[in-house]
Amino acid sequence: MSKLAILGGAPTVADPLPIFNTIGDDEKKAVLDVLDNGLLSGFYGSPGKEFLGGPAVRALEDEWCELFECRHAVSVNSATSGLVAAMGAIGIAPGDEVIVPAWTMSATAVAPIAYGGVPVFVDVEDATYCLDPEKVAAAITPQTRAIIAVNLFGHPAELIALRALADSKGLYLVEDNAQGPLAREHGRYAGTIGHIGVFSLNVHKHLQCGEGGICTTEDDDLAARLQMIRNHGENVAGVEGEINLANTFGYNLRMTETTAAIARAQIARADSIINGRIEIARALSKGIAGTTGIAIPHERKDCDHAFYLWTLRLDAETLGVSRRTMQRALAAEGFPSFEGYVAPLYRLPMFRERQAIGKNGFPFGNSGPDYAEGLCPVTERLHDTEALVYEVCAWDPTSGQQQQMVDAVHKVVEHRTALRDAEATGALHAD
Ligand SMILES: Cc1ncc(COP(=O)(O)O)c(C=O)c1O
Repeated sequence: MSKLAILGGAPTVADPLPIFNTIGDDEKKAVLDVLDNGLLSGFYGSPGKEFLGGPAVRALEDEWCELFECRHAVSVNSATSGLVAAMGAIGIAPGDEVIVPAWTMSATAVAPIAYGGVPVFVDVEDATYCLDPEKVAAAITPQTRAIIAVNLFGHPAELIALRALADSKGLYLVEDNAQGPLAREHGRYAGTIGHIGVFSLNVHKHLQCGEGGICTTEDDDLAARLQMIRNHGENVAGVEGEINLANTFGYNLRMTETTAAIARAQIARADSIINGRIEIARALSKGIAGTTGIAIPHERKDCDHAFYLWTLRLDAETLGVSRRTMQRALAAEGFPSFEGYVAPLYRLPMFRERQAIGKNGFPFGNSGPDYAEGLCPVTERLHDTEALVYEVCAWDPTSGQQQQMVDAVHKVVEHRTALRDAEATGALHAD
């Protein structure tokens, strides 16, 4: 193979990867239909049928239930909003502990704080990067009220085991399924195994409408509470039966009709959009499996991965080259990736300094959970040294380019001695 591109050779992926974009004629038509009709939002924050949103919002929710085989879908304006609403719906109160993985996007851990809940970080499994059920069990205290499992990068957490654990301890299991539409565990859709599942429809996800989210649940009462929190629930006092509206802190988390119309156009093609991403991830995995010093994403038995992100594991010792150098060498070959994911969340200043709201330690308290460095060693190792992430939903390589990406990895690994020598001179990281 020719000289490495980072050392002056020709890149293996000759043309830049096209950007993944599924917004087309169907979405345009859907928006124009709403504009023609003139009803940009169908919500009223007062009693009546409009309390549950306009026609596109309600149709989206029905279609979501059909696609994901669930009883209720409650749309919101982001997955972050969905996570906050979920915390309110399950009744998180000041001082309640909520177990969350240390390796996830910040919204997972910040959502409980909206109701005064305290995130307790637990480490992830080495193979799947999702919550380790044994470590979750060990972290349960009398203050624990809920577990938020994240189906990270699109791989289902051990959802069935976590649900059984939650049920046996009288806890709620909420799934942050922002990244895993159509992922499955034992044939059951991720996002539908916990008491509440939360999906994201933001611009970076498989299915998108710019910004948006959906909460799913089988529980009528939780669905009603989610609907209340989404739409100034306190304002419909006296008409909503059993729900304790004195304890239902509402927001405006409503989705517009234009956004819902785009989301409907997307979910009409959900199978092809998502399966297209999965096929690319599998083609890359197949081409790279067995390469020295590199591990492809693990798929647990009886699980279907949705591949929001496709993550390589680098063994720098075997390769003799740092992850940083590997990332740069691959980028020079035309294979974009980034090092690690979000840093372990307890490194965020709000946890390190124990100041989320105000300056007196609320909601953590003085004797609250540990947020010290070293808390979750698997997460720290994966993030700091091993994971190299390719964004499956950002790029749309042709099949020829997918092969070139595979070739690029092989080329870099084959030339690792030259890379190591160049690394030793310091020339590669002069910037
Ligand atoms: C795991 C996870 N949770 C929550 C979110 C928040 O989603 P949104 O941007 O829809 O609020 C994201 C978004 O990237 C995510 O990846």
